[in-house]
Amino acid sequence: MNLTDRDRRHLWHPYTQEKIAPPPIGIVRGRGVWLYTEDGQKILDAISSWWVNIHGHAHPFLNQALARQANELEHTMFAGFTHKPAVELAEKLVAILPKGLTRVFYSDNGSTAVEVALKMVYQFWQNRGEQRKTFVALEHAYHGDTFGAMSASDKSAFTKPFVPLLFDILRAGNIENTDQIFQENSKQIAAVILEPMLQGAGGMIVREKQFLLDIRKLCNQYNVLLIADEVLTGFGRTGKMFACQHAEISPDIICLSKALTAGYLPLGATVATEEIYEAFLSDDRMKTFFHGHSFTANPLSCAVASASLELFERENCLEKVAFINRKFNERLPQLSNLDCVSDVRIIGAVGAVEIVSDDGYFADIGQTLYQEFLSRNILLRPLGNVLYFMPPYVIQEKEIDWVLDEITEVLENINRRFSRK
Ligand SMILES: Cc1ncc(COP(=O)(O)O)c(C=O)c1O
Repeated sequence: MNLTDRDRRHLWHPYTQEKIAPPPIGIVRGRGVWLYTEDGQKILDAISSWWVNIHGHAHPFLNQALARQANELEHTMFAGFTHKPAVELAEKLVAILPKGLTRVFYSDNGSTAVEVALKMVYQFWQNRGEQRKTFVALEHAYHGDTFGAMSASDKSAFTKPFVPLLFDILRAGNIENTDQIFQENSKQIAAVILEPMLQGAGGMIVREKQFLLDIRKLCNQYNVLLIADEVLTGFGRTGKMFACQHAEISPDIICLSKALTAGYLPLGATVATEEIYEAFLSDDRMKTFFHGHSFTANPLSCAVASASLELFERENCLEKVAFINRKFNERLPQLSNLDCVSDVRIIGAVGAVEIVSDDGYFADIGQTLYQEFLSRNILLRPLGNVLYFMPPYVIQEKEIDWVLDEITEVLENINRRFSRK
């Protein structure tokens, strides 16, 4: 029996309607941008395996770092203990993060990094003796799948079954209505949470840096904390190491995950200012931040994350992102000439093409395109009617050209059918 058949007997996959989804593809090996299937197909990972992979699969330098750490210490609890991989990674992160972010709290993934940020802020105000219990988040936001992160996310098919259990959020669309929300609720608002520059799962929406600047100013004016969810945008994806650096602002808390470990292992980091940390220091034990996970600061995850940062510098990853960006800018905008394309959006190493559709996430076009590209040996998994190309930074020029050629051909074919309607 092959992997796919064995899988079907016992496994349950994320975001998958198991009754109608095509069988999962068995992957046996990864190298660079390529994934190899058990029946010999070679597929280019053009979405960095759900946006996590930046240096390519099975990178020798990262493999070595991981093996070395496994031989030293695989794991220990983090309450009352510490270890070199956690300390080293924290030092490296603080050195490159926007100014003022100096206290690293580790967790397991992007959702927990957000969950930690929300709980930290909520308790911060209580510890300071203020009743600020409301969060502001943006339209089209996506912050993860745990309950706090789902509450902060905009309503969608993903959150629909759970709506009665989610807490209320004030939802902002632009700077004018954020200002109005602040004016009307100034004393209750604990924090704004947002994905700086690029809203990912909400449809690869690129935002102006001015918006980020204006939000920072408003937060200062109303004494509201700013949480930047850089789970997707961190580590070069938008062309800067962190997306907040486009606007040269510092949030009060930043949430990191995904490319933090170059896509090797699960790890989240919520990094706060010293001011937030200090609000938890007290002789009163009730002011403790009571949050933690069994695998907090897992040494293997921290070691590979540290090695990834080293590789990032050594291989000039920001230059690679700039190169990918130039290629996208040369080729993608002309797709707007097709009647079936309603918008093209590019930032850093992300290129998105929105296809005309009014059916949102369940538009068949997404599934059709996914299957069509797989048959052409490319993994592209559209978000509904938004097709996006988000490769590992190690992708070669000829591979970018090839994927762009395939995207162009597939969209031209769709356009022919579309124009005949
Ligand atoms: C901006 C953002 N925040 C949080 C998350 C949740 O991360 P995870 O899937 O690791 O829980 C995601 C995942 O796509 C994300 O894009």
